[in-house]
Amino acid sequence: MKILITGAAGFIGYFISKKLLSLNKTIIGIDNLNEYYDVKIKKDRIKNLKNYNNFQFIKIDLGDFKKLDNLFKKYKIRYVIHLAAQAGVRYSIKNPNIYFKNNIEGFFNILELSRKYKIKHLIFASTSSVYGNSKEFPLKESENTDKPLSFYAATKKSNEIMAHSYSNIYKIPSTAVRFFTVYGPFGRPDMALFKFTNKILNNKEINLFNNGKHIRDFTYIDDIISGLLRLINRPSKKTIPYQVYNIGNGNPQKLIKYLRAIEKNLNKKAKIKNLPLQKGDVIKTHADIKLINKKVNYNSNTEIDEGIKIFIKWYRNYYNLD
Ligand SMILES: NC(=O)c1ccc[n+]([C@@H]2O[C@H](COP(=O)([O-])OP(=O)(O)OC[C@H]3O[C@@H](n4cnc5c(N)ncnc54)[C@H](O)[C@@H]3O)[C@@H](O)[C@H]2O)c1
Repeated sequence: MKILITGAAGFIGYFISKKLLSLNKTIIGIDNLNEYYDVKIKKDRIKNLKNYNNFQFIKIDLGDFKKLDNLFKKYKIRYVIHLAAQAGVRYSIKNPNIYFKNNIEGFFNILELSRKYKIKHLIFASTSSVYGNSKEFPLKESENTDKPLSFYAATKKSNEIMAHSYSNIYKIPSTAVRFFTVYGPFGRPDMALFKFTNKILNNKEINLFNNGKHIRDFTYIDDIISGLLRLINRPSKKTIPYQVYNIGNGNPQKLIKYLRAIEKNLNKKAKIKNLPLQKGDVIKTHADIKLINKKVNYNSNTEIDEGIKIFIKWYRNYYNLD
């Protein structure tokens, strides 16, 4: 079974590739290695994946339809895990165009090729941000999601709607996975855990929006991967073969508590600058994981203390701090 993983140099793409490679699957990984964050991290992830013989990396941009078409043909792709996208809520405030190009046009190319090559299952990344400021906690997949607060969320919600129509008309089995704040080793430098750790270690001030009162359903990377893995061979069998699942932890925490856990693990206090709520940010996320639990027996097992500890060990080792 050959699986195409888009965004293979990314945080989640790296870990799902690694897991599938360790299970002896053949992985074709693509990524444009853009400079949204330190490219060295992306290159190092790919370097690690190249230790597996059944891994092939090709640098491609989602916008290059012709190159993608050749790749689908050449490698006889039948399964796609689409993770490549412009991620991040805050960056979308100043750069909506990049989100439109990568997340809408790029996704359209993936849909078109899924149709052309009769993909058996297209799994693609959506986000908890689609819930906006919904107040019905925990957030269920059936909740209304037509009021995104950021353009990032709007692009991801658009992906869900586009996929639904392709599943209906062309019978392409597709699954949207709404990830909830993913963290862990080799994670993203633009996200809280990485940024806070870096700032604390360098004695720099941390900008804490909404005075740290945000509540997030922080989900450890291994739990995300276990959810994704369980879904690959479970495309929807319904007349419209489309489905959506939350993949979260189900145990949300205040951002300030997350920060305190980082301080504890670093054995060092943060310098905090409290700031008001940032435009586009949702106040609280809390995943209802009953649906994915019922369907594929998914559970999230990692406590934030444990996950943060593993991250900090990785961080110290990666930057040779010990
Ligand atoms: N990490 C989270 O907490 C989180 C939460 C919700 C949703 N998501 C979604 O999950 C997916 C993976 O997220 P991640 O945290 O691994 O992010 P990431 O930024 O580490 O990975 C995305 C990868 O896609 C690549 N990419 C972007 N645009 C591309 C293009 N046009 N062509 C080819 N490659 C391109 C980037 O270079 C990057 O390596 C994304 O779709 C993201 O929106 C992530």
